[in-house]
Amino acid sequence: MPVNRFRLSTYLSTAAALAFGLGLSWGGAACAQTAPSEAALPAAAASAVAHPALWPQARWPWRQDAAMEARIDALIKRMTLEEKVGQILQADLSTVTPDDVHRYHLGSVLNGGNAGPGGNDYAPAPEWIKLADAFYDASVDKRDGGVAIPVMWGTDAVHGHSNIVGATLFPHNSALGATHDPALLQRIAAVTATEVRVTGIDWTFAPTITVPQDTRWGRAFEGYSEDPALVASYARPFIEGLQGKPNSGPLLAGPHVIATAKHFLADGGTFEGRDQGDAVVDEATLIKVHAQPYVSAIDAGVLSIMASFSSWHGVKMTGNKSLLTDVLKKRMGFAGLVVSDWNAHGQVAGCSNASCPQAVNAGIDMLMAPDSWKALYHSLIAQVQDGTVPMARLDEAVGAVLRVKMRAGLFSAGRPSSRPYAGQFDLLGSAPHRAVARQAVQESLVLLKNEGGLLPLSPKARILVAGDGANDIARQSGGWTLSWQGTGLDPKLFPGATTLWQGIDTAVRAAGGQATLSPDGSFAGQKPDAAIVVFGETPYAEFQGDLRSLQLKPDLRAPLETMRKLKAAGVPVVALMLTGRPLYANPFLNLADAFVVAWLPGSEGEGVADVLLRGSDGSVAHDFTGRLPFRWPMTAVPGGATLYPLGHGLSLKAKAPRWVPLPEQSGVDDSAGSTTEYFQKGVPTPGWSLEIQNAGTGGGTRITSVPATVADSGVAITASDYQVQEGARTFAFSGSKGTAALALTTHAPADLSRETNGEMMLVTTIRVDAAPTAPVTLAMDSAGKATSLSLGKLDMLPRGTWTTLGIPLQCLRTAGARMDAVDAPLILSTGGAMTISLARVKLGMDAQVRLPCATH
Ligand code: BGC
Ligand code: BGC
Repeated sequence: MPVNRFRLSTYLSTAAALAFGLGLSWGGAACAQTAPSEAALPAAAASAVAHPALWPQARWPWRQDAAMEARIDALIKRMTLEEKVGQILQADLSTVTPDDVHRYHLGSVLNGGNAGPGGNDYAPAPEWIKLADAFYDASVDKRDGGVAIPVMWGTDAVHGHSNIVGATLFPHNSALGATHDPALLQRIAAVTATEVRVTGIDWTFAPTITVPQDTRWGRAFEGYSEDPALVASYARPFIEGLQGKPNSGPLLAGPHVIATAKHFLADGGTFEGRDQGDAVVDEATLIKVHAQPYVSAIDAGVLSIMASFSSWHGVKMTGNKSLLTDVLKKRMGFAGLVVSDWNAHGQVAGCSNASCPQAVNAGIDMLMAPDSWKALYHSLIAQVQDGTVPMARLDEAVGAVLRVKMRAGLFSAGRPSSRPYAGQFDLLGSAPHRAVARQAVQESLVLLKNEGGLLPLSPKARILVAGDGANDIARQSGGWTLSWQGTGLDPKLFPGATTLWQGIDTAVRAAGGQATLSPDGSFAGQKPDAAIVVFGETPYAEFQGDLRSLQLKPDLRAPLETMRKLKAAGVPVVALMLTGRPLYANPFLNLADAFVVAWLPGSEGEGVADVLLRGSDGSVAHDFTGRLPFRWPMTAVPGGATLYPLGHGLSLKAKAPRWVPLPEQSGVDDSAGSTTEYFQKGVPTPGWSLEIQNAGTGGGTRITSVPATVADSGVAITASDYQVQEGARTFAFSGSKGTAALALTTHAPADLSRETNGEMMLVTTIRVDAAPTAPVTLAMDSAGKATSLSLGKLDMLPRGTWTTLGIPLQCLRTAGARMDAVDAPLILSTGGAMTISLARVKLGMDAQVRLPCATH
């Protein structure tokens, strides 16, 4: 039976049963036993008001400078209300011009993860300096009166100057946690600061001193460790590497930048590891686990601290006065500036992106208002005028901003291009800088298995390098690399970088061996002496990396087959895992002879070869010194048993204990539907259905195999090819039965609100085979209501070629769709004839054609 035919009513009668089956909540079945669902938590179980006397006190090291304080007072006295309000706002590059900086007296700009000069995220370094000069000139141009205050530019230099093409890319923080080497962290920070200064930028949003407790969190890789003591031991050297020692003269006179400790507080303590979620933990845990690194950061004189997007007991940190003011500033003694996160103020109860006096009153000194700065400028002026925000609080915030600018030396530094290091482009990705990154890679590798002493391999041997991650520079670099999520990057954007494969190939060739790259592990002729199979995660950043269980996504587990084949052919296998965090890996561990965690190593792939291979003289130049900064799980069940404790890691010197095979039950059923991938290789993903609907009859026909014809809708469905044979479906709409639609539906509505806030798009891989004769409509069904956008006659798409079309989720929200209960993310309908093919439908950030729509 080619099609599974039923009426909508029958369809719904099975819904409850199906939804039950799929309805494993976020944490999967196992987790439901250990933690209640968020909805089930008692509403105000505990208050979100802290008790400052319980908190540690830090030693703020910056000396009071009477002359500086007098200058700050004098400036504040001269500033108009407009100048003061502008001074505490930070706008994103994509929505601000130098003229705006001048007109609105803006205190700061930033380049968010997807922004760059002239709208080009990958703009060459000279463009960044040019723009920095333009912003600077605009900020100090007071020909029309007013106070000249140089603007400050913030960037996410989070693993090196990671937004700049050609910069040194260090391993991500979870990898650095494995090095247990604070002195190395200081050198990494110093290199990063220098490279930031090359581009005329003065402020970085690093280090992230989060203490992730649940590695399902998609930002766990931005954290050094789950151990507060290890994170605390890094905070100080890293901050000193960026800023230099406090009281040693203006930062900008040396190779330094302003640092930011983030995200205060308990960003790594949220329920089920959800990004921007709620930390449902007691105050003692906040203090013992999450606050510890801030003591070191304040001791080091960190000049800014970013408030977290997350909540404590349901109250957003950005609006929590007791934590920001009473604890952080008053009790812990932090006297730098507190900056909020990207439109985080809009999430505070009672606030919107356009208005949030609560955040300023709670203690935020600068609002990161990427696209909302203009609205905030107007609302804040009114709120100070009517007393909602006391003038004294505004003055205090302005004072905090000016003090940081003075300590940095911004008032005397001159134009960005004239400052030391600016324009020395040969420093970006210079050999000495890359050498530090290479050392960091060497020290971060963690050896978990080495049966029969397979490692180190001889570079004189015949080595096969397999796995789809082996020669992929973007993949080994992870998120926050050139683009926000680190996706959609051409290898050409990484000049001077080295992939894992290139590193191995170079070393093997130099020693007279022979390395072969074969992603699927196949080989012809002589059997290789050993194979290195690279596998693991693909890049992600905020929330897109959130997981339901500690398991690699199903499509990333394929290299296990490659390993099996190699083993069956008698080839010893080294498994090399690219990952931001520990994940259940028992089947890989059992199968491979040696297993190495490579984390997200960044641009210096040779660092891996340095440790995996002997020197050409047969010596062992580098032993494995990396030790786990997070526990390694025994199963994929969150919070389940531990396989390897913190600090575990083998070395070559000590003989590895005999391998005892591990059980291969992950403990979780991840066949439940994905909320971000609906249709792949021409078929719906688990949990989703492909339906043909008829507007007139209201009937829905589920398509389970092809070819199929839905006679009463006049639609014929056939298989077609995309990348692989039958990797797509072709839909021929005859237009003979009124309006017909193809739809992707589910019985377990998906909550896409976070994805919508994160500017994601519904991305369809589509081909127009025969142009529509009547307009086409795209609709989303959510909370029982359809919201439609017109696609006209698909004129934005070329004919006959595959294209990715992106429909920003925000377009659908703006058009009225509820994003928290999506039943059908994609319904394409037309009353006319057309033939289209569809290969894939998912959420993503990248598309060749983007549907324009009124946002904001
Ligand atoms: C992130 C911060 C980052 C900021 C600017 C936010 O979404 O949470 O870590 O510094 O964006 O890009
Ligand atoms: C920006 C990031 C920011 C994120 C917040 C992105 O568009 O590029 O910098 O952190 O939005 O959701």
